[in-house]
Amino acid sequence: MQLERMDAFFYAKAEIYDSHMLKELQLEVFYKEIAECFPAGNAEPALLDLGIGTGLELERLFAKFPGLKVTGIDISQGMLDLLYKKYPDKNITALCGSYFDIDFGKDKYDFALSTYSLHHFGEAKKTKLYRKVFDALRRDGIYVEGDYTCKTPEEQEKYIKESEQLYNKNNIPEGFYHYDIPFTAEMQMKLFKSAGFSDVKIIREWENTSIIKARK
Ligand SMILES: C[S@@+](CC[C@H](N)C(=O)[O-])C[C@H]1O[C@@H](n2cnc3c(N)ncnc32)[C@H](O)[C@@H]1O
Repeated sequence: MQLERMDAFFYAKAEIYDSHMLKELQLEVFYKEIAECFPAGNAEPALLDLGIGTGLELERLFAKFPGLKVTGIDISQGMLDLLYKKYPDKNITALCGSYFDIDFGKDKYDFALSTYSLHHFGEAKKTKLYRKVFDALRRDGIYVEGDYTCKTPEEQEKYIKESEQLYNKNNIPEGFYHYDIPFTAEMQMKLFKSAGFSDVKIIREWENTSIIKARK
């Protein structure tokens, strides 16, 4: 199997990323559903975006909330350069680094979002991260995650085992390589609840992708 480092993988793909996602994978509907998850009403909501990339998920959110204040985290500077080029006049603070290392602060955000980024990581890392997201949200804040999921616990187990073997064999930390470990939507919901979220709901499910919404 040809493996690539996570940061190098996204750096190399940055220029073709948007057309791959929108045209080849036809993800317009996905991003439309993502925007609909966030309730209208707040004129200038603060959003934390984990793995913001080139910000495909933001176009409809800016249309719905013109005063949206975005803090986006991404490990790939190439993706962030394109993000700034795409939204030159929007209120975006982009931090280049890993969302596992960066401090999110407490009670700072109305919304948090992650699209197509967290399926590279295992249970322990995600659990800690969801607690950080929970703490970073204000009361009644909304977290939405749209990501690859698998259908059965058996498939999930297979991905987890393969990734553990890969990382143990090469003696490298999890998430170093671009390698997919999709969980079932049910497992994701369990992780959100154990981080403290309530009102955890599947908003939409496709063959290999789910959108899940949770409330602080
Ligand atoms: C498939 S892209 C998704 C980008 C965007 N959210 C979207 O929906 O188009 C995944 C992004 O997650 C970023 N990423 C992967 N691991 C990360 C980490 N540990 N910390 C921050 N960003 C990470 C990658 O650099 C990449 O830009």
